[in-house]
Amino acid sequence: MGRTHSNAFNQVGHFFDLPYQTVLKCCYGRNVENLKKFQSTWGYEAIETDWRKIVESDEIDIIDVVTPNFLHKEMVVAAAEAGKAIICEKPLAMNSAEAAEMVAAVEKAGVPTAVSFCYRRNPSVALFKQLVDENRIGRPFHYRATYNQDYTISKKVPVGGASLWRLDANVAGSGVTGDLLAHSIDSAEWLNGPIEKVCAHTEIFIKERTNAVTGEKTPITIDDACMFMAIFKNGSNGLFESSRYARGRKNFNTMEMNGENGACYFNLEEPEYLQFFRYADPETGKKVEDHLTGWQKILVTNSEHPYMSHYWVPGTVIGYEHYFINQLADFLIQMSGGTPVYPVPTISDAARTQKVCDAVIQSAKEERWVDVE
Ligand SMILES: NC(=O)c1ccc[n+]([C@@H]2O[C@H](COP(=O)([O-])OP(=O)(O)OC[C@H]3O[C@@H](n4cnc5c(N)ncnc54)[C@H](O)[C@@H]3O)[C@@H](O)[C@H]2O)c1
Repeated sequence: MGRTHSNAFNQVGHFFDLPYQTVLKCCYGRNVENLKKFQSTWGYEAIETDWRKIVESDEIDIIDVVTPNFLHKEMVVAAAEAGKAIICEKPLAMNSAEAAEMVAAVEKAGVPTAVSFCYRRNPSVALFKQLVDENRIGRPFHYRATYNQDYTISKKVPVGGASLWRLDANVAGSGVTGDLLAHSIDSAEWLNGPIEKVCAHTEIFIKERTNAVTGEKTPITIDDACMFMAIFKNGSNGLFESSRYARGRKNFNTMEMNGENGACYFNLEEPEYLQFFRYADPETGKKVEDHLTGWQKILVTNSEHPYMSHYWVPGTVIGYEHYFINQLADFLIQMSGGTPVYPVPTISDAARTQKVCDAVIQSAKEERWVDVE
C-alpha cells in the first residue's frame, strides 16, 4: 500500500485541479537499505526510521498511515496531537476501543481525516451509489456482498514476519473480517445505510502454522473465513461472505442490491463494469417497457461517469491505482472547502465500520445475533 499511496501523491496533481501542491517529504521504515530504494523509486525528499520525527516535523502537513494494523492507533493519535491532517489505511484499528481513542484524538485536535476505503473511488462503485441516490433501486430488499481470495490455502504459508502479519492476531487484530469485510461493510453502509444487527460464523481452516521468524509452530487465532447475516435499519436483509480459501478467487469483491425499482451488481474482478437491472421508472414507479427489461452491463468509462472526466477518452479503462488517486483528490478538495465527487470517509465514519466488525466477531464467538451499538 505504501506504493499505491506514494503513486497517488505523485499523480494526483496531473489529473485533478487542486488547491495544493503535493510533495513527498519523508517516508518511514525500519530497514535503511529498503527505505533508500523506496525513496529513489517514488521520489521522497528524505527517509526516517523514527516515525515520531516525521509526525513532529514542521515541514509536513499530512501524515499517511500505511503500516500494519497494530500501529494505526499510536500513529494517528500522535499525528492528531501534532495537528496534522491524517489519512489512515483500513481497518481503522485493532478493535472499537482503539477506534474510539482515535476518534477522540482527531475530534479534539479538529484535524481533517480520511480512511482508505478505496473501493468507493472505483467509478463503477461510485456510479452504483449515484443510481441508489437517484432512487433507481427503490425500496431495497436484499444486499449481498462477497470478498473472497485464495492465497492462504497452502499449509506451507507461514505466519508472522514482515509480509505475513495478516495471519497474526496481535498485528492484524482479526482475519478476513478486518482485512476484507471491513471494505464490504463500508461499501454496504455507504450504499444501503446502517446495519442494525448481525449473526456470524467464522472458521479457522489451518489451526497451526510455522512462524516465519522463529521457525516454531504457532497457533492461528484469526478468522480464515467469515460469513454473516445482517439486518439493515431500512429493513433490508444482508448476506456477507469472505474467505482466503475460495480457490480461484483473487480479489472477488462483489456487491449486489435488489430493490423494488431495480438492481445493481459490481464485481472487482471486472472493475470497469457496473451491471444494472432496470425494472421501474424512478420518477413514476411504473414498470419500463417489457422489451427493455433486463440486465445492462455498463462500461463505466464515459466522461459523465464519476471520476472519468479526469482521465482518458471513453472506452479506455483506468486501474486499481486510480482509486487511490481519486481518494486523495477528494480528500484534498474537501480539505480546501471544495466539493469532492463524493466525501471521503473520516476516522469517525470508519469507527462505525469497526463497530460492525467487532459485532461480527462477537456474534461468531457467542453464536448469536448481536446488535451493532
Ligand atoms: N485499502 C486497501 O485496499 C488496502 C489493501 C491492502 C492493505 N491495506 C492496508 O494497508 C496497511 C498495510 O498493508 P500492506 O498490504 O501494505 O502490507 P504489506 O505487508 O505489503 O506491507 C507492510 C509494510 O509494513 C512493514 N512493517 C511490518 N511490521 C512493521 C512494524 N512493526 N513497524 C513498521 N513497519 C512494519 C513491512 O516491512 C512492509 O513494508 C494495512 O493496514 C492493510 O490493512 C489496505
